[in-house]
Amino acid sequence: MRSFQKIIAASAAALATTTMLAAVAGLSAAPAFAAEPLRIATATPATRHAAQAEDAVARGRYLVSITGCNDCHTQGYPQRGGQMPTAEWLTGSPIGFQGPWGVSYAANLRLTVQGLTEDQWLAFARAERRPPMPWFALRDMSDADLRAVYRFIRSLGAAGERMPQAVAPGGVVRTPYIPFMPQDPPPVARR
Ligand code: HEC
Repeated sequence: MRSFQKIIAASAAALATTTMLAAVAGLSAAPAFAAEPLRIATATPATRHAAQAEDAVARGRYLVSITGCNDCHTQGYPQRGGQMPTAEWLTGSPIGFQGPWGVSYAANLRLTVQGLTEDQWLAFARAERRPPMPWFALRDMSDADLRAVYRFIRSLGAAGERMPQAVAPGGVVRTPYIPFMPQDPPPVARR
């Protein structure tokens, strides 16, 4: 108990010293966030533009992580509960999805964005795709959010290989694939 009191007394002394030093140095004891509006108010158009660009990348990262893009476009992401380095995000998956559409592959988006300007991306991202790509989710995203997603993916740079081309129904499939069709239960389960 006594040593505990000593620790408290020591911390109080340390705090007092810090406050005194700050006062001597002419620093205010105001919390750090109080300086924030000042920085923005004095920002030049160039620094403001840079800050906005940074915000868009951060928002894009957030959108990608909560809208499930990594679920299909990053191999191993769901299995590892999303614990994967960002450097590996969105490099595609060579395991196909099979259904009446044939076999589709979640593209390497890191390479996809390399060939598109931000404006081209808006139209490209909203185009109808084979299942199970939730293309309608991108169609319904605001321009600002879609642009943020593009900026984030671009910020990661090119990585990985191109994924296989989609295979038409009945075509030859050369990769592992996941059947994406409702299956009938085994007879015993129907009773
Ligand atoms: C359930 C799996 C799945 C999810 C989740 C998913 N995708 Fe896809 N995505 C695919 C598949 C499969 C394709 C290939 C579709 C085709 O062949 O037409 C694809 C294709 C695309 C393409 C076209 C790429 C190209 O180069 O042709 C874009 C862009 C894309 N996805 C973006 C996204 C974004 C952004 C998200 C997150 C909001 C997302 N996808 C979520 C499976 C998925």
